[in-house]
Amino acid sequence: MASENTQTKDNSLITTTRALLDNALTRFEKGTIAVSFSGAEDVVLLDLIHRLGYKVDVFSLDTGRLHPETYEFIEKIRTHYATPIELLSPDAKALGELVKEKGLFSFREDGHGECCGVRKIQPLKQKLSHLKAWITGQRKDQSVTRTDVPLEQIDAAFSTPENELTKFNPLAEWTSADVWQYIRVNEVPYNPLHDNGFVSIGCQPCTRAVGPQEHERAGRWWWEEETQKECGLHSQNVIKIIAN
Ligand code: ADX
Ligand code: SF4
Repeated sequence: MASENTQTKDNSLITTTRALLDNALTRFEKGTIAVSFSGAEDVVLLDLIHRLGYKVDVFSLDTGRLHPETYEFIEKIRTHYATPIELLSPDAKALGELVKEKGLFSFREDGHGECCGVRKIQPLKQKLSHLKAWITGQRKDQSVTRTDVPLEQIDAAFSTPENELTKFNPLAEWTSADVWQYIRVNEVPYNPLHDNGFVSIGCQPCTRAVGPQEHERAGRWWWEEETQKECGLHSQNVIKIIAN
């Protein structure tokens, strides 16, 4: 009986998510919407989109500090789904100045904001200025900063007066267990670091494996406060917490 209930819940979750993706990719034509790709959740998104028969633009923020396994994983996904993946690099001048001034590990001294700003947020901002919508793999149960993440929202952080940007979070209602059930059942490729205790995976110097009783984001920027663990991609989540 229990497995029947689980099956029903999974099926309805997947059906709802498919409908949301179908709606998003119908409303926003190719070239105006893209998947922001990095990890386990995002490959579920790509798999669902692939099975729906859509070709979608995919980009990933190549901070220059990702694990070798993550680069291999990106390549695996590119070939497995026969999909181009645009890798966005930091601006060379801004990065050169940061590293010359503060070295390669400044985030250990004064927080991750500045380094993430140069390596992730500037390239993302530039990319989003050419889009009308983006799709992320954020989930509500990922973090105290994400408990209110909606399925669809106006992106308050990256919209401009000239360009209102829609942000889709189709997996907002999925749990980590739902994601991994989907990956197993559908034999979806995943980052091999997950087999070594890594759950939430970002840049190599800012990510560690977590123990059995630790929260999945305990391995991200572990020297910082839980409520500050957003790198700026999803900063409107933090704004919300402060506002509350
Ligand atoms: S982060 O802001 O703390 O790094 P997290 O790793 O939880 O984010 O991932 C949440 C979502 O943000 C992912 O599902 C993905 O859509 C997007 N994302 C995170 N890191 C990247 C990246 N390097 N490139 C593109 N998208 C990313
Ligand atoms: Fe820099 Fe760490 Fe942010 Fe990566 S996660 S951009 S290395 S501070």
